[in-house]
Amino acid sequence: MCGIVGYIGTRTASEILLEGLRKLEYRGYDSAGIATVLEGQIHCVRAKGKLHNLQEKLAGENNPAQIGIGHTRWATHGKPEEYNAHPHMDTACRIAVVQNGIIENYRELREDLKARGHEFRSDTDTEVIPHLIAECLKEIRHQEPGASSSEPGLTVDSFPDPARTPKVNPPYPSPLSSHSPLLEAVRQAVTQLQGAFAIAVISADYPDELIVARQQAPLVLGFGQGEFYCASDTPALVPYTRAVLPLDNGELARLTPLGVEVYSFEGQRLKKAPRTLNWNPVMVEKQGFKHFMMKEIYEQPGVVRACLEAYFDSEWDSSNPTQSPVQLNLPESLYTDLQRIQVVACGTSWHAGLVGKYLLEQLAGIPTQVQYASEFRYSPAPLTPHTLTIGVTQSGETADTLAALEMELQRRSQQPPEFQAHLLGITNRPESSLGNLVPHIIDTHAGIEIGVAATKTFVAQLMAFYALAIDLAFRRQSVSVDQLAKMLDGLRQLPAEIEMILESQERYIEELAHDFAETQDFIFLGRGINFPIALEGALKLKEISYIHAEGYPAGEMKHGPIALLDAKVPVVTIAMPGTVFEKVLSNAQEARARDARLIGVTPMDEQEAADTFDTLIPVPHVDELLSPIVTVIPLQLLSYHIAARRGLDVDQPRNLAKSVTVE
Ligand code: G6P
Repeated sequence: MCGIVGYIGTRTASEILLEGLRKLEYRGYDSAGIATVLEGQIHCVRAKGKLHNLQEKLAGENNPAQIGIGHTRWATHGKPEEYNAHPHMDTACRIAVVQNGIIENYRELREDLKARGHEFRSDTDTEVIPHLIAECLKEIRHQEPGASSSEPGLTVDSFPDPARTPKVNPPYPSPLSSHSPLLEAVRQAVTQLQGAFAIAVISADYPDELIVARQQAPLVLGFGQGEFYCASDTPALVPYTRAVLPLDNGELARLTPLGVEVYSFEGQRLKKAPRTLNWNPVMVEKQGFKHFMMKEIYEQPGVVRACLEAYFDSEWDSSNPTQSPVQLNLPESLYTDLQRIQVVACGTSWHAGLVGKYLLEQLAGIPTQVQYASEFRYSPAPLTPHTLTIGVTQSGETADTLAALEMELQRRSQQPPEFQAHLLGITNRPESSLGNLVPHIIDTHAGIEIGVAATKTFVAQLMAFYALAIDLAFRRQSVSVDQLAKMLDGLRQLPAEIEMILESQERYIEELAHDFAETQDFIFLGRGINFPIALEGALKLKEISYIHAEGYPAGEMKHGPIALLDAKVPVVTIAMPGTVFEKVLSNAQEARARDARLIGVTPMDEQEAADTFDTLIPVPHVDELLSPIVTVIPLQLLSYHIAARRGLDVDQPRNLAKSVTVE
C-alpha cells in the first residue's frame, strides 16, 4: 500500500529519498512527501498527486540534510489532499513520522492527545503517532537525571536546542549509547498503538537518529558503508545495497551513521544479521519498455524457464523413475497422510489457486478448496484432519492472506495431532512476512514485479502448482509415469510457446485493441482449467482499463450474463481442445446468436474458427492441462493494449496498490 523510505548517512538525503519513492510509487500514489532534519529544524515538503508533483516542489531546493524519511500514500483515513500527506508532525514540529498501515485505536488516542493540548492538522490516523511520541518523550525527559520539573526547556512546545545543552551532564546521549530518549519514546508509543503499522521517525532534537518500528506491515533495513536505509519494500533499496534485514513484527530499530541496533517492543536488544538479496538494480528499471507491465509480460518465457530449472529434475528418467521428477525440497511430513488441501489467497493469486485446485484434484486426486483469504478469516471451513494449507501471495505481504494463515495456525494449535496445521507458502518474496510466518515456501523465481497488475508472478504461481501437483501425483501414483513424462515434455515447451505468442500476436492484439477503446462491458468465458483464466482476463481488464468485465464458466452464461449480451458486448472465449472443447464452442454460439462479437482464444485453424468466432486470437496447441499458461498471455496483452489505447496509467491504475497491507 503506502511506501516508506528512510535514510541516514553522509549523502544528500532528499535525493536518495526521492529515488526510493520513485521505486515504491507502485505501492501507492495519491500523495507523497519527505522530511529531513537540517540546522535543528524539520524541513517537510509534501504534495498531492503523483510523485512528480513532489519532485517539482523540491526542484531548485538545495537541502544538504543527511537524514530523512519519505512516503507515498494510498489513502485509508482522510482524502488524498496535501494536508493528509505524510510525513506528519507533532504540535511543535520537532518530530516527523511516516507510516504504512492502519492505527485502529487512533480516535481514542487523538481525543486523549487533544485533551493534553496537542493540535491536529490532518484527518489521518497516522498523525496520532508523532503527538504520542512527543508526549512520551516529554515524560522521559522529565525523568532524566539532571532534569528538574521547573526546567523551562522540557515541554513539548519548547524543546531545548541540543546544541545549547550543558556539556557536563548531556541529556542527549551520543548515538553510540544504547540508551536513546527518542528510541525509548517511540518504543513506548508503539506499544500503545493497535492495528498494523510500519513507521519511520526522525526528530529535530536527535539529528543523528532514525527510528523505525514494525507491527504487521512490512519494513526492511538496508546496510551501506556508513549509511543505512529503511523501506517498506526492497526495490527502494536495491540501487544502494543488497544487504538487507527485514524487521519482524514487534521489533524496532535505531539507525545512526554508526550502525543499526534492533530491539523488541519490550526493549530487549536483539542480535540479527542482514541477508544478501540476489537482485540487481537493472531489474527495477523498464529496460526500454514503455511500461513495467509490458516488460514483465515479455519476461514470462524466462520466468517459466527459471521455474522449470528450480522445480524439476532435468535428469529424471521416466524409464527408471526411482524418485519424483520434482525437487521442491519440502519435508516428508507435508506429504504424509495428506487428505485435503485448502488454498487461501487474494486477487490474481486466488485465480492461480483455482488452477491449482484443478491440478491437485485431477492429477493428484486430493480434494482441494480455494478460499478468498478475506472470507476465510471470518468464516473458515470446519477443521479437517491431515490438511495442508497453502497461502499464495506474490508479495508475501497481503494482510488478509497473512491473517488467514495465522488464524489457521492458531485454531489448529489446540487440536489433536492429526489436526495440526501444515502450512506452505507460494510466494515471489521468500524474505517477506509470509516467509517468516510459514515454515515452508515454494519460491516462484519471477524476479521483482513492479506493474500493479500481476502478470509474470501469476504464471510463476501456476508453475509452482504444476510442480506440487506432479510431485503429489508421482508419490500417490495417481497418474501413470508415462503421462507425467508427457506433461514434463509439455511444460518444457512452454517458454517457446509463450515466445511464439508474443512474437506473432502482440502487434495484432495492439491493433485489435483499437476496436475496444470505447467498449463498456466485456465477458470472458472459459471452462474447466480455463475458467480461472477467464476470471483473470476479466480482472486484468478491469484493473488497468477500468472497463467493466466479467469472467464466467462458459456453461453458466445462460444462467444470467446472457441477458447482458448485444452487439456492444464483446465475448472473449477460451476454447482449448480437450474435455470441454465442444461444450465451450456451443456456449460461444449461444453468445453469437445474441449478436455479441465473439473473440476466440484458440488453436483452431482460421477456416475452422471462422465458423465460430468473429475474431481469432490464435494460440499454440498445447495439452489442455498446460493450456492456462498459454491462454493467459493474449488476455494480458489485450488488457494492456486496451488500457494503453485509452491513455491510462497501466503500471499504476487508480485506487489499486501492488501489495495490500491493510485489511
Ligand atoms: C492487489 C494487487 C493484485 C494482487 C492482489 C494479491 O490487489 O493489485 O494484483 O493479485 O493484491 O496480492 P498478493 O501479493 O497477495 O499476490
